[in-house]
Amino acid sequence: MQHMNVLITGGAGFIGSHLAKYLLRNNFNITIIDTFSNYYEVKRKKEHLDQIKKIGEFHLETFDLRDEDKTLHHFKKKSYDAVIHLAALPGVQYSISNPHDYIDHDIKAVVNVLRAAGETGVPHVVFGSSSSVYGDVDGPVREEQADGRVRSPYAAAKSGAESFCHAYRSLYGFKLSILRFFTVYGPWGRPDMAIPLFIKKLMDEEEIEIFGREQSRDFTYIDDIVKGIFLSLYQQTDSEVFNLGNGHPIPLQRLIDLLVDPFPDAKIVDRPFRIGDVKHTWSNIHKAQEQLGYKPEIDINEGLRRTIAWAKKYYGR
Ligand SMILES: NC(=O)c1ccc[n+]([C@@H]2O[C@H](COP(=O)([O-])OP(=O)(O)OC[C@H]3O[C@@H](n4cnc5c(N)ncnc54)[C@H](O)[C@@H]3O)[C@@H](O)[C@H]2O)c1
Repeated sequence: MQHMNVLITGGAGFIGSHLAKYLLRNNFNITIIDTFSNYYEVKRKKEHLDQIKKIGEFHLETFDLRDEDKTLHHFKKKSYDAVIHLAALPGVQYSISNPHDYIDHDIKAVVNVLRAAGETGVPHVVFGSSSSVYGDVDGPVREEQADGRVRSPYAAAKSGAESFCHAYRSLYGFKLSILRFFTVYGPWGRPDMAIPLFIKKLMDEEEIEIFGREQSRDFTYIDDIVKGIFLSLYQQTDSEVFNLGNGHPIPLQRLIDLLVDPFPDAKIVDRPFRIGDVKHTWSNIHKAQEQLGYKPEIDINEGLRRTIAWAKKYYGR
C-alpha cells in the first residue's frame, strides 16, 4: 500500500528514528510524537531527527503522551492507518530506582494511545514490547512462554502494557501487533546500552565494567528490527505477538572478545551480577519468519563492524 499514514510515537528515539527513515524511503506519510525525555542526551534525539529530515518530510509533535487530553486531541485531528507505539522509558537498572516513572511512561502513556486509537478508529496498533517479558530463560523462547514472572519494574511495565493492548483490542476491535524486540544495537544505538557504551569507553580508553560474564544476549541489528516492524504493518490476522530477535544468542565473553579485537588495550573490570537483569535472552523467531516473512540478515560480526565504523565517524576519530 502506498502513502500509508503512520504515527510513530517515540520517533526521536533510537529505534523510532531508524524506522522513520525506512518508512519515508518507502513513501509512507509519517508523523512523530516525542517528548524528548532526558533519559539520555536530548541533543542525541535532535540529531536523530536531523537524520530523518535528510530522507524526507515528516510531521513532528512534541508533547507528552502521559497527557490524555492532548493525546486524544491529536488523534482526532488525524486519520492514521497505523500507530506504532515505541515511546517508553527504557532501561532495566534505572527502573529499579524509579519504578513509578515506568508506570507513567510505559503503561499510562500506552493506555492513552490505545484509547485514542480506539476512539478515532485507527485500524492497526503496533506495540513495541521487549524480550524482558520472558524473565530468565534457558533456551529459545516462543511467544506463548511469557508467564508474567519478570525480573524488573521495566519488564513488569512492558508485560502490563501488553495486557492493556489486548484489553483495548478487545474493546475497540483494531488489529494489534505486539512485537518483542531482543537487545537492539547498531549505528545511533542507545548510549546506555552495552554495545554502544562499551564501544565509547574503549574509544576513550576507559575501563569497561562487566556485571557477570556468564550471560548471553540475543543481540539484534537495528535494520533487521526495522524490517520486522515494517512487515508487521502487513500482517493479516487480528491480534498477534511476535518475537523480533536474531535467534543466535551471543555469550558476553564472545562479545568482549570481538570488541577487544579492534581495541587491544581494553581494560575490563569484573563486577558482581546485578539484580533485575536476566542472565540470558534467546528468541525463537519461527512465528515471525512464517507469518511475517521476517529474516534477520546481519550477524554480530557485521553488525559490530558497522556499529564501530559509525561510532568512529560520530565521535570524530
Ligand atoms: N533498544 C532496545 O534494545 C529495545 C529492546 C526491547 C524493547 N525496546 C522498546 O522499544 C521502544 C524504543 O526503544 P529505543 O531503544 O528506541 O528507546 P529510546 O529511549 O531511544 O526511544 C524512546 C523515545 O520515546 C520518547 N518518550 C518517552 N516517554 C514519552 C512520553 N511519555 N511521551 C512522548 N514521548 C516519550 C523518548 O523521548 C524517546 O525519544 C521502547 O518501547 C523500548 O522499551 C527497545
